[in-house]
Formats: sequence, structure tokens, C-alpha cells
Amino acid sequence: MTSSMRALISGIGPEWVLREVPRPQPAPGQILIRNRAAATNNADLPMLAEADPTRGGHGNEFIAGFEYAGEVVELGDGVDGWQVGDQVMGSIPSSFAEYVVADQRFVLPRPDNLDPAVACALPTGLLTEHGSLTIAGFTAGQSVLITGASTGIGLIGAQLARALGASQVIGTTRTAAKRDLLKGAGVDTVIVTEEQDLTQATLDATDQQGVDVVLDHIAGQTFAQCLAATKIDGHVVNIGRLAGPTSAIDLDDLSYRHLTVHGVSFGFSRDQEMADVIAGLLPEVIPVVARGQIRPVIDRTVDLTEYQQAADRLRSGEAVGKLVLTMQDLDKP
Ligand SMILES: NC(=O)c1ccc[n+]([C@@H]2O[C@H](COP(=O)([O-])OP(=O)(O)OC[C@H]3O[C@@H](n4cnc5c(N)ncnc54)[C@H](OP(=O)(O)O)[C@@H]3O)[C@@H](O)[C@H]2O)c1
Repeated sequence: MTSSMRALISGIGPEWVLREVPRPQPAPGQILIRNRAAATNNADLPMLAEADPTRGGHGNEFIAGFEYAGEVVELGDGVDGWQVGDQVMGSIPSSFAEYVVADQRFVLPRPDNLDPAVACALPTGLLTEHGSLTIAGFTAGQSVLITGASTGIGLIGAQLARALGASQVIGTTRTAAKRDLLKGAGVDTVIVTEEQDLTQATLDATDQQGVDVVLDHIAGQTFAQCLAATKIDGHVVNIGRLAGPTSAIDLDDLSYRHLTVHGVSFGFSRDQEMADVIAGLLPEVIPVVARGQIRPVIDRTVDLTEYQQAADRLRSGEAVGKLVLTMQDLDKP
């Protein structure tokens, strides 16, 4: 194993820079993983911009990326339950690199049939959507509304809700062109928000009752519209804020419907909370993934050295699903 690795660094300028940096060492309780593929997330570009010192950013250099898939190559002291050679995937900062270290509690097993270039696009969606369904007390037979079901993680949420026995999955997109994409992810009723009123369309699809659980990736006024589209005693989970973090809500919707509102930000969860979210995922979700019932939507896959293509595509706003960066062994063809 070499003592250095290639990684994409933020905090130098407006773009990631590919550099040779020291390979991390696993501390006690950590696992060193040879990373084979990494997927992009919505947060990657804002974090790159915030770090750009040429445009007033903080200038602190860090390895970008949040999702990886590969195999275990070294165990830190005190690690149990993992072996060198185990196939793994996960969601952890500094994933745009040939090696990542992760707390052993945060690592997910990668099913044998799942190629790293596919697996790497799953962990953030799986843990965010499953963690959100769990917080909402979701059980089989309940209905789920997913706003922004066309987002990378929303597409996983739709498949997950379907696989876990949702009675009905309703999903939104702004554009009718993505109707088939959502249907393919298991969405029963697609609401095109540029053409339809979200609240009314949801009520129409649920006998005017509303849904049991909302997974909201959009926020802004969409969040307010979700409240009136939720069943009495239902749960609304805000996950993302693509349309902005503020929303003027009608408190009558909240009170008369006896709703419970949750906010989640798993990237900023305390370690034990994250460990609990992942422990909850293992028995219920990994078998579903192994059976092929959940697959990420991947917009395109490029080699790590072609990272600028991935950044440009992400910036275009036209990507559907994830961009994947693969990391080949340099000494192999
Ligand atoms: N809470 C957590 O722990 C957590 C974890 C991961 C991600 N997130 C958040 O979840 C959200 C989704 O992340 P992602 O990486 O899956 O997103 P993504 O794949 O980049 O989502 C892109 C899609 O979002 C929709 N969209 C973008 N801007 C929008 C707007 N202003 N209004 C409505 N729709 C808009 C568009 O779909 P259409 O064109 O079809 O409308 C677009 O194709 C982000 O806000 C992210 O920060 C939260």
C-alpha cells in the first residue's frame, strides 16, 4: 500500500484540484477503506464555493465528497465485526479520495452483487430516507408524499418506501418530463408542481385525507403546502431546502391536523445518533438492496481524473441522479 493517494481538494480556488496527499491512517475504532468509486451530492458545490479563497471563501483546504464504495484494507485497534477484504460502502466526509477512514459504526456492508460504481450512490440516500421514515414512525401500509422525488436521495426514498410496504407513494417534480423517472422509482402518483397545486393534488389522491408521512426535500412554500396535505396525526420531515429555508406556514394546518414536524440533518448528527440510524438500517434496508429492489439513478460515471466533467455537469443543474467518480488502480490497465 502506498503512503500517498490522489484526492480532490476544495479550498484552493473555484474548482476542485486533484492532488497527491498523505494516505490516512485508521485510528482506534476506525477502518481504512480502498475507495473504488464516489458519488456527488447536492452539498458538494456549495461547500466548494464557500471554501474558495479567490472569491472571499474561508480557504481551509479539505478533501471533498461524501459517499464511497470499496473494500476494507486495514483495521484500527479495537475494531471488531469487520475483516480486511470486506466489501463496504458508506457516507462520510472526504470521500473523493482513493482511501477513506471511517468509524466502524458508520460503515455499511456492500452486497456482493453491487458494483462499487453503483453502490457509492446509495449510502446517503439510504440513511437519510430511512432515518427520516423511522423518525416519522412510518409503518407498512401508510402513505408517503415525497417532495422533490426527482432528487438523487428522493429517488431512493421512493424505492425504499415502496419496498418497506407503503400503501401509496406520491412524488413531486417541477417538470412533466420526469414523470416516467418517478414512476420507475415506484411513485404511484406523480405531481408536477409547475402544473398542479401540491396540496389539492395530494388530497385528491388520498380521498381528501392527506398522507401519513411527508419527506420534504424542497422546503420554501412547498413545506407550507405539505402541512395541509398531511393526514390528521401525520408526520412531516424536512430533509432538504432546495427552494430556500424559510416558509410562511398556516398554524391552523398544524394544530387542527395534530401534526408532528421533524427536521433532520444527518451530516451534522452526533456520532451516537448516526450510529443508531445506521444500526436501524442494517436489518431492514441492506437485504432490500441485496435483492435489487433499490438502485440509485446515475446520471454519468467518469474517472477521478475527469472530475471537471462531473463538476460542470453538477453545476448545469441538468443532471438526473448522481455523478459517479471511479478510482482505478494506477498500476492496472
Ligand atoms: N437532511 C439531510 O441529512 C440531507 C442529506 C442529504 C441531502 N439533503 C438535502 O436533500 C436535498 C436533495 O439532495 P440531492 O443531492 O438528492 O439533490 P439533487 O439530486 O441535486 O436534486 C436535484 C433536483 O432537485 C430539484 N430542485 C432543484 N432546485 C429546486 C427548487 N428550487 N425547487 C424545487 N425543486 C428543485 C430538481 O428536480 P425537478 O427538476 O424534478 O424539480 C433537480 O433536478 C438537498 O437540499 C440536500 O441538501 C439533506
